[in-house]
Amino acid sequence: MLTIENIGELLVVPPGPVPGRAMRNVRRIPSAAVLVDGERIAWFGPQAELNAPTGCESIDARGGCLLPGLIDCHTHAVFAGTREAEFVQRIEGKSYLQIAHQGGGILATVDAVRNATCDDLVAEAKPRLARMLRNGVTTMEIKSGYGLNVHEEIKMLQAVRRLADLQPIELVGTYLAAHTTPGEFAGHSDAYLDAVLDDKVLGRLRDEGLAEFCDVFCETTAFDLAQARRVLEAGARFGLRPKLHADQIHAIGASRLAGEVGAISADHLEKIDDAGIAAIKAAGCVAVLLPGCSFFLGVEQAPARRLLAADVPVALATDYNPGSAMIESLPLVLTIACTQMRMTPTEAVVAATANAAAALNRHNRVGAVQVGMSADLLVLDVPSIERWLYEPGRNCVHTVVKAGRVVVRRER
Ligand code: NIG
Ligand code: FE
Repeated sequence: MLTIENIGELLVVPPGPVPGRAMRNVRRIPSAAVLVDGERIAWFGPQAELNAPTGCESIDARGGCLLPGLIDCHTHAVFAGTREAEFVQRIEGKSYLQIAHQGGGILATVDAVRNATCDDLVAEAKPRLARMLRNGVTTMEIKSGYGLNVHEEIKMLQAVRRLADLQPIELVGTYLAAHTTPGEFAGHSDAYLDAVLDDKVLGRLRDEGLAEFCDVFCETTAFDLAQARRVLEAGARFGLRPKLHADQIHAIGASRLAGEVGAISADHLEKIDDAGIAAIKAAGCVAVLLPGCSFFLGVEQAPARRLLAADVPVALATDYNPGSAMIESLPLVLTIACTQMRMTPTEAVVAATANAAAALNRHNRVGAVQVGMSADLLVLDVPSIERWLYEPGRNCVHTVVKAGRVVVRRER
């Protein structure tokens, strides 16, 4: 057994999905303690009422805030190479899509990934994941999508699988072969989809547990609505639940498609309109917003307040990737959501815990402070989440517990 004592403020986040404004759903307990039994939360409440067996391990929170471990529910964190030249080109006036049309963008990273071995991908990603863990991430989704043929896409997902065994963050694989059409199929995107949606390939992903979700970039430069539907329906036949990169640069109807195919989440949504909001709300989709991506590209943010006002469950994630969001800090992304989207710190934390868990179909196990849930917990070295997100340039995470095990403990 493990106790965490002298918590200044315990943030009681309920299990997701939490629709709309989260303030009314989150409780705060001052001077609190938590009791962990094995992998799970056994009790929490006022410090004065703690009744722990003698001799169990104890963490002194020293007045710090306690909250659920963060969940980064949309990343492309396995990649090779970097693209700082595009960063400069954008500053000089080129758009993300202009760079993609010139053969840069996603295809530049595809070349680098194809030239890397699975070992190389693991070696590059491992220190990234270690830093993300120290920033409080205890569960994380990672997409393929830089291999763009069957062999290379599986290589990426095998790298994710190996990383899951090498470090404490719980990893979730997503098949994103439909990220864009590779050069060798230029002008023949349907033939490309034939290859990567082959029944044998999808059956292998399911049987080997390499992916839980199937994603598609539905955009003028990538796949149109009919193709996106085909991708998601093919994946679903093999148990891969649909997700979409939707309404990022152009609203071509992807959020409506998300509703029609029963997607677990619709992600990006910078350009979503009222009909799209109504569609994802009716379908019970989680809206995964990526404010670090808009910040990085210097474009407008998704309409978080309109989605919250419509009572849609909103999640936040880094979208960590070398093109549109070279940002591995989820706490920084939460601060961007606060200052640029006007989400409150409470809404932002719910979005990166309970609602992110719902976007990964794990809301019955992680992302909340509730008896019986996995003890995935963070102790901050500051007394509140407001104090934490107010200071994005410094890592305020002191202790990280994953499934009842202390996996990060910083010196004071
Ligand atoms: O989520 N929008 C498409 N895919 C990624 C970017 C990938 C890249 O530029 O390498 C995204 O932003
Ligand atoms: Fe993405």
